[in-house]
Amino acid sequence: MSPLSRRELLKAGAASAGAVAAPGLAQAATAAVAPAPARPPVVQRVSLQVNGRRHTREVDTRTTLLDLLREHLQLTGTKKGCDHGQCGACTAIVDGRRINTCLTLAVMHEGAEVTTIEGLGTPERLHPMQDAFVRHDGYQCGYCTPGQICSAVAVLDEVRAGIPSHVTADLTAKPALGPDEIRERMSGNLCRCGAYANILDAIEDVAGTRSAGGAT
Ligand code: FES
Ligand code: FES
Repeated sequence: MSPLSRRELLKAGAASAGAVAAPGLAQAATAAVAPAPARPPVVQRVSLQVNGRRHTREVDTRTTLLDLLREHLQLTGTKKGCDHGQCGACTAIVDGRRINTCLTLAVMHEGAEVTTIEGLGTPERLHPMQDAFVRHDGYQCGYCTPGQICSAVAVLDEVRAGIPSHVTADLTAKPALGPDEIRERMSGNLCRCGAYANILDAIEDVAGTRSAGGAT
């Protein structure tokens, strides 16, 4: 038998290596593209107090608090802007704190007390912050307004509770509610219409920090 040339030897080695590796590769490729088996949604009961009323619903555990409010309770005052925690349109007050309801799951709030824009006041009896937004023209299209108002109400509570912000100079003193404090604390609520100056006026009005001339 004639000895193999170097070229023939390499060819034979590559062929046998391919024969061994191919089944494994094929399996790996199949595993990579195989769709994950469909799992049925997990449904859980959640019961919470919204604007003073107890609500109980069975929801897919992936349901956000925002979707629970809007789609299950028909409280559409709370708006869906970005659905990613970036615009503040979905702000509501949960157990005394403002949160982005698009960033939290409904089932995480069993037993919680939620206040939405519908719970702050009524058209006949506006909350002072709602009234101030109307008087100061603190909106144009109004899409961000429910979130702005819920946030503003919570901001005043945060200041009353002595909670500092990133611009509070003295962390040991009670924060003073100047324009910079308000701007910083409201910075998570975006307004595409740019009604910021009038929103600031409205909040200062309710806070009682607005100067006589109105300039801040
Ligand atoms: S919709 Fe929640 S932050 Fe934009
Ligand atoms: S009033 Fe239009 S986005 Fe704020």
